[in-house]
Amino acid sequence: MNFQTGGRVVFFATNNLNKFREACMVMREFNLAMGMLRIKSLEIQSENLEEIAKFSVLNAFEKCCIPIIVEDAGLFIEALNGFPGPYASYVYRTIGNEGLLKLMENVKLRKANFRSVVAYFSAELAAPICFKGEVAGEITEEVRAGSSGFGFDPIFRPERSDKTFAEMDIKEKNMCSHRAKALREFAKWYIAHKRIV
Ligand code: IMP
Repeated sequence: MNFQTGGRVVFFATNNLNKFREACMVMREFNLAMGMLRIKSLEIQSENLEEIAKFSVLNAFEKCCIPIIVEDAGLFIEALNGFPGPYASYVYRTIGNEGLLKLMENVKLRKANFRSVVAYFSAELAAPICFKGEVAGEITEEVRAGSSGFGFDPIFRPERSDKTFAEMDIKEKNMCSHRAKALREFAKWYIAHKRIV
């Protein structure tokens, strides 16, 4: 579909304004603009982020019929055998950051990583295409909320930083975040695929 923008606008199906703001800033690096589509796309229960993202993007496409991306993220804590992983959203809603820190009480090994999968689908494709990003870090001993961020940002400190994601502004978070990495992979592919110059 041509929006008279030469394909320079990418639509993101999400209800999360924080994710959208982060994504806009990454797209700007590639001279792309981003539109937010507040579509409630269905999420399946799966241990596999890619499977969840693929299902969601097809579901979003059915509703809007325009080229679209979705993004799905998970938090994998080593000492908890990868928990909450793809169930991060449920865990955040139920026990939240304080609950997760309680589960980690007296746990010395605090390594964790965030993973993101961006899935893109358009009518020209036979199946969704996925792009991945990951960031290693650790779960802090206490909640360290700064002035920005969302979700687990106040308890996740990426490697080689002394700040949690919540203590960073979006620009700093985007320098290393799982989501920014996945989105950059997507943007590179999108520009090459759409032959945008
Ligand atoms: P979602 O299913 O991708 O929306 O994310 C799963 C859960 O992880 C939600 O509770 C989000 O708040 C949380 N989450 C996802 N991405 C991030 C992030 O970049 N920072 C902190 N929490 C996140």
